[in-house]
Amino acid sequence: MSFVPPLLAWYDMNARELPWRSTHSAYRTWISEIMLQQTQVDTVIPYFQRWMDRFPDVQTLAASDEQEVLSHWEGLGYYSRARNLHRSARILVDEHHGMLPRSVQGLENLPGIGPYTAAAIASIAFGLDVAAVDGNIRRVLSRVFNVEAPARSPESEKQIWSLAEQHLPQGRAGVYNQAMMDLGALICT
Ligand code: ADE
Repeated sequence: MSFVPPLLAWYDMNARELPWRSTHSAYRTWISEIMLQQTQVDTVIPYFQRWMDRFPDVQTLAASDEQEVLSHWEGLGYYSRARNLHRSARILVDEHHGMLPRSVQGLENLPGIGPYTAAAIASIAFGLDVAAVDGNIRRVLSRVFNVEAPARSPESEKQIWSLAEQHLPQGRAGVYNQAMMDLGALICT
């Protein structure tokens, strides 16, 4: 049997309660994914909450000055992430009616969004059928499928992306990606 039905059943019962999961919006998904790029979940949570109190939507973020944006990032590190969020917010307001693009390519055109983050946002916020592969997901798939090529080698990357795509349950990519993240973070450590 595919590992996916039990994975999704497990996630249904055991998904972590995270502030960006409670209220759904593409803006919240975007901000959380950028904060999570180089920072652990537990560290991100209070920053995410303070950010949402001060910059609840893309218009507020675009209208804020950079110093204030950076001050809400203080302690998270990799400040280019905050500058890119601010620049992106202005681009979205000026050129996209304040909306995030609903495609992987459109998302990747924004500063600070690479292939993983674009796939995470597209699947979680917009329900597009795309696999997102982060460190946790690499580990889960490597173990489930006994990937023997050295970690991060071109060969293992190819195998892992292909496994992630092959098993993707159509229409449920957002929960599938997040279920593997949580399995990797909680069980398959
Ligand atoms: N790490 C990156 N994105 C995440 C998400 N959506 N949920 C949990 N951990 C993550």
